[in-house]
Amino acid sequence: MKIKIRIAKPEDAGKIVAINKIGWLTTYVNQENGITKADILSKNFNRQKAWRESIQNHKRESHFWIAECDGKIIGYISAKKDKEYNELGIYILPKFQSMGIGGRLIKKAFKWLGEEKKIRISVVGYNAKAINFYSKHGFIKIKNENHKLPSGKNLPTIMMIK
Ligand SMILES: CC(C)(COP(=O)(O)OP(=O)(O)OC[C@H]1O[C@@H](n2cnc3c(N)ncnc32)[C@H](O)[C@@H]1OP(=O)(O)O)[C@@H](O)C(=O)NCCC(=O)NCCS
Repeated sequence: MKIKIRIAKPEDAGKIVAINKIGWLTTYVNQENGITKADILSKNFNRQKAWRESIQNHKRESHFWIAECDGKIIGYISAKKDKEYNELGIYILPKFQSMGIGGRLIKKAFKWLGEEKKIRISVVGYNAKAINFYSKHGFIKIKNENHKLPSGKNLPTIMMIK
């Protein structure tokens, strides 16, 4: 299996949106914490146009990379330069997780973001895989927070900083 990392193109927006939605459904639906599929689907995933525009205008403020396996997009990372902190978003399709692809993507983002500002991410408290992943890449837990879904439920989150 050959995994290729490349810079995203505007026409990848549809696939990025689909991976983001699959990622939310497979990672955050959680009986123990009372988060149902309907809670996750209350969020607006239909943001293809916005993604397309950000990819088109990337370079200075934001940048996106794609992971491909045999020509199919299987994951992405977004990196954003912001006022106080820089930010990241990363999703890999379940079948391709824990194979080192996230590690390859995050290194691209670290290099592009540089070290001028700290990077802040918000990770769901019961998402142990991602918490381990970020810890391994130097992030530390700062504080507990909540992410309110449009359904009214709260996703317990942790702010991590590197
Ligand atoms: C979190 C995520 C981006 C990590 O990418 P990945 O390609 O799976 O991670 P890697 O293979 O590079 O693994 C790196 C580290 O992550 C952690 N990790 C990976 N899989 C894990 C698992 N099944 N259980 C616990 N920790 C795990 C480990 O610390 C691992 O280090 P190791 O390889 O030395 O054991 C990916 O799993 C993913 O997309 N998850 C679903 C969406 C998500 O949670 N996104 C982050 C939102 S904040």
